[in-house]
Amino acid sequence: MRKVAIVGAGQVGSTTAMRLAERGMADVALIDIYGELARGKALDISHSLPLTGSSADVVGGSDYGLAAGSDVAVITAGFPRGPGMSRSDLLAKNAAVVREVVEAVKEEAPDCALIMVTNPLDEMSYLAWRITGWDRHRVMGMAGLLDGSRLAYFAASELEVPPGKVLPMVLGSHGDAMLPMARFTSVDGVPLSELVAMERLRELEERTRDGGAEIVALLKTGSAYYAPSACVARMVHAILADEGYQVAASVYLQGEYGLRGVFVGVPVILGHGGWKEVVELDLLPAEREGLTACAGMIKERMDELDEWLEGAGP
Ligand code: LAC
Repeated sequence: MRKVAIVGAGQVGSTTAMRLAERGMADVALIDIYGELARGKALDISHSLPLTGSSADVVGGSDYGLAAGSDVAVITAGFPRGPGMSRSDLLAKNAAVVREVVEAVKEEAPDCALIMVTNPLDEMSYLAWRITGWDRHRVMGMAGLLDGSRLAYFAASELEVPPGKVLPMVLGSHGDAMLPMARFTSVDGVPLSELVAMERLRELEERTRDGGAEIVALLKTGSAYYAPSACVARMVHAILADEGYQVAASVYLQGEYGLRGVFVGVPVILGHGGWKEVVELDLLPAEREGLTACAGMIKERMDELDEWLEGAGP
């Protein structure tokens, strides 16, 4: 059986572990600084497996040795957003956490594909990639699929169709500069932009952009985890099964979309070992400008991280 390491046994990490284990998708190592918490959750998930017919091995603890030989590592460790907090507020707080855990994962699972979930997503994905020094195809941030899933749900409710009928596309950052793409979101092959009036469409896009914050405000403590974990599990499956599945994810661009040296959300094809290629949509000039502006904002914070890394020393 393939193996997935999940770092961070909070809500996103443990729910992801449950989803992977329940479907027998992979053995799971759940790692957290609070080792007993991770062990307890792993044991609780294990107790559910006789009912699901899965023979996945689920272990938990604080020892990174548990991650040895993993095919995929998912990093959820970090502080979640509190009410009124932007994802960028988390930048400095989570950079230190991500640096430490990614170094440990690199040591134990040197051949894995890395899916970043910790916010601010695009910046933490960059940081992880820089720390590993790996080929860019092995490191990606999970965001576009989540933002797209939210858009699909809102669009499906609006049109009164099953949610699975909407094929969404959200580009850009997992943040305020998120770019829901109605022209590339389709329902039975028809673009969403032709099915919903412009004004209403803007409202759906706005709600998508604020989807994470809406949930943070309702939960009061912590952020969303059911949808995020479903998205991570979907990506893990696509990688392990070498599916050739297309998702929007935050990846390091080297010229695609006219952008270079920046992590930003674009459609990619997932398969064995990570992502294989960027899919270049035929964007209109205004759409391209939106993506470029968004990449510029992320790049500024990537530069801050570079400074932070240089100041932090080896
Ligand atoms: C969200 C947070 C986790 O979008 O970024 O729910």
